[in-house]
Amino acid sequence: MQAIVHSRYGPPDALELKDIDKPVINDDAVLVKVRAAAVGKGDWLTVQGLPYVARLRYGLPNPKHPVPGFDVAGRIEAVGPNVNRLQAGDEVFGWCDGSFAEYASVPQGQLAQKPANLSFEQAAAVPISGFAALQALRDTGAVQPGQQVVVIGASGGVGSFAVQLAKAFGAQVTGVCSTNSVDLVRSLGADHVIDYTQQDFTRTGRRYDLILEMAGNRSLAHLRRALTPRGRWCWSEDRAVGGSWGPAAPSERSWCRRSWASGCGRSCQSPGERTWLF
Ligand SMILES: NC(=O)c1ccc[n+]([C@@H]2O[C@H](COP(=O)([O-])OP(=O)(O)OC[C@H]3O[C@@H](n4cnc5c(N)ncnc54)[C@H](OP(=O)(O)O)[C@@H]3O)[C@@H](O)[C@H]2O)c1
Repeated sequence: MQAIVHSRYGPPDALELKDIDKPVINDDAVLVKVRAAAVGKGDWLTVQGLPYVARLRYGLPNPKHPVPGFDVAGRIEAVGPNVNRLQAGDEVFGWCDGSFAEYASVPQGQLAQKPANLSFEQAAAVPISGFAALQALRDTGAVQPGQQVVVIGASGGVGSFAVQLAKAFGAQVTGVCSTNSVDLVRSLGADHVIDYTQQDFTRTGRRYDLILEMAGNRSLAHLRRALTPRGRWCWSEDRAVGGSWGPAAPSERSWCRRSWASGCGRSCQSPGERTWLF
């Protein structure tokens, strides 16, 4: 099969189109004929081998998984003997290691049936960013109807899902983005949009029950003045591992929370604990 392969960490010119063997599926996995794969920030970081500590998992000195790509949508071609939820011919979407290829081996627990009203391209855009947004809002942020939620980085992969999901949970949503993205974020349903190049969202007088911080790395003191007394702040792991170093390895994705009311409540979730939206 053909696949995008990286044999060393580096910029995109480290990627090559090559003929390689089809993946062999284990007992709990399925073989997916890939119809669409998405590219997100995590892919960019993995190809570069950032943060450096992630190379302990992804391979030293070179990547041990030659094919990058996490988000996948496609049709199942074969199933392992222990697979009981899916069958050949099913149209599915989810996440895996190695979706930038004609075929990917995917554990059945990381896939769901593709809704018929989504194209493969649309479905492939959902898993990593959509679940990060869902976990941050529902599981870590515990968002409730009527709450004030601000999404910093509302125009990005995670933020654009977070705006829509927060609205679906009944929250009043403020999106923070750059000038060029204001119309996009408004079109996603945000009740208020703040252009961070023009205005500091912590100085509008509005207080938030939940701050989702996907970008910006503002100081805690800065953010705290925009929180209600029992407000929650959820940040992406960019901050946890130190700004420009980027997020933790995708398989270690986690969203951490700090409840100011309880002092330092902190929880992290692994991909295995994700639950499906559909
Ligand atoms: N835990 C998980 O499972 C998981 C999954 C995916 C991503 N993540 C992490 O979540 C974070 C966001 O990922 P992403 O895929 O959404 O990234 P992204 O697509 O690059 O989006 C980030 C957005 O932030 C905006 N931005 C930049 N500087 C800003 C600032 N100072 N204030 C407000 N907004 C600013 C940019 O939009 P403008 O052009 O409008 O400024 C950009 O669209 C990353 O740290 C990523 O590693 C975690």
